[in-house]
Amino acid sequence: MKILVINGPNLNMLGIREPALYGQNSYQALVDFIQGVCSENGVEAEFFQSNHEGDIVDKIQWAYGKMDGIVINPAAYTHTSVAILDALKTVTLPAVEVHLTDISARESFRHLSYAGMACERSFIGLGFEGYKQAVLYLKEKYG
Ligand code: DQA
Repeated sequence: MKILVINGPNLNMLGIREPALYGQNSYQALVDFIQGVCSENGVEAEFFQSNHEGDIVDKIQWAYGKMDGIVINPAAYTHTSVAILDALKTVTLPAVEVHLTDISARESFRHLSYAGMACERSFIGLGFEGYKQAVLYLKEKYG
């Protein structure tokens, strides 16, 4: 099975960005970690990171007919983007939401997740492990 892993704005700065919240590991370390999980489980992964909302919408549309599932951390766009929600609903691929931090325990503006409304599951506050759980969930259900 083929999974598209999307990370939104500022996640390319992992390791530099607020390390007390997001940890010391880089975005490349995150990609390597997820790639390892996918390889061990016979999953093909495509990775995409962007700081631009429209590019994320384009990538979700690109996945239609090519990918079997989406793992998405829309980062700040989680809390603002109806366009990303609509794109996920458009392609009707099984999608799982991931957040490194526990957004429900942070500022109130982070409590609402638009993208989450189109996702089957959310793994929140587990750090990198959340991406592993998301891949394994899709593999077990659709792989
Ligand atoms: C985040 C949480 C968001 O509120 C924040 O804007 C991010 C990262 C997380 O992974 O914990 O950029 O999605």
